[in-house]
Amino acid sequence: MSVGQHKRKLKLLLAGLFLTLPLGLFAAGDLPQVPKAKAKATAEYGCVNPVSDMRKNHMEYLLHQRDETMHKGIRTKKYSLAECVECHVSADDNGKYAKFGESKHFCSSCHNYAAVTIDCFQCHNDKPESAYQSESSNRQSLPEGHEKFASNDVLPSGDSK
Ligand code: HEC
Ligand code: HEC
Ligand code: HEC
Repeated sequence: MSVGQHKRKLKLLLAGLFLTLPLGLFAAGDLPQVPKAKAKATAEYGCVNPVSDMRKNHMEYLLHQRDETMHKGIRTKKYSLAECVECHVSADDNGKYAKFGESKHFCSSCHNYAAVTIDCFQCHNDKPESAYQSESSNRQSLPEGHEKFASNDVLPSGDSK
């Protein structure tokens, strides 16, 4: 099976998953529990694009945004990974943030279920910037000199945006 076929199969699987959701064919708990976003990105869609589109295509948008930023220096907020995390990752009732990899983390909720692995959070913060003000000692450790590397407000060169 080619990579393309494999991807299409996964997409169909995912689309099928959500289509069957309202039919209640699966017992609660069989499906990933996706944490709710804090806010709406747009009044129209909820997310930055229609939610069904985001479910299927978020990876393409993220990777495209990364390439535009890294190679062409084009920075917009629309598909910024830091913005996704900012809106989608929130603390539980005890003020604790789920870490990437735990099924309560927005990005891991589906990925754990669908056995998708991504390496993005080896470098990027898996919780909002504001979380570090209260949990400064738990800041994800990055190589020396890279503390602000993926924080999205200071470029690797140290220049402000
Ligand atoms: C300002 C808030 C906001 C931002 C920024 C945002 N989203 Fe969303 N997103 C939402 C809302 C609202 C929904 C609808 C579901 C909900 O209420 O949690 C949603 C839904 C989704 C879903 C479907 C979740 C599900 O329940 O099936 C995915 C996937 C998603 N967003 C990915 C992203 C990605 C990737 C980014 C960054 C490129 C992003 N979002 C940026 C608010 C946001
Ligand atoms: C080896 C470290 C590293 C890994 C792994 C990595 N990135 Fe990045 N990424 C960076 C750095 C450094 C930048 C540029 C600084 C910045 O803009 O935050 C960047 C920039 C970006 C941007 C543009 C800035 C923004 O937030 O809009 C996106 C989007 C992005 N990466 C997405 C991803 C995704 C998705 C993955 C996983 C598939 C990933 N990155 C994996 C280091 C990494
Ligand atoms: C609604 C479920 C859902 C949510 C929430 C979700 N993903 Fe995904 N993601 C998937 C599925 C399913 C795939 C695999 C589909 C495919 O390969 O076509 C995937 C694939 C990816 C890929 C491509 C992996 C690869 O190897 O090609 C990246 C990158 C990615 N997601 C990033 C994220 C990030 C970052 C977040 C959180 C901001 C997130 N996803 C949240 C369901 C989700």
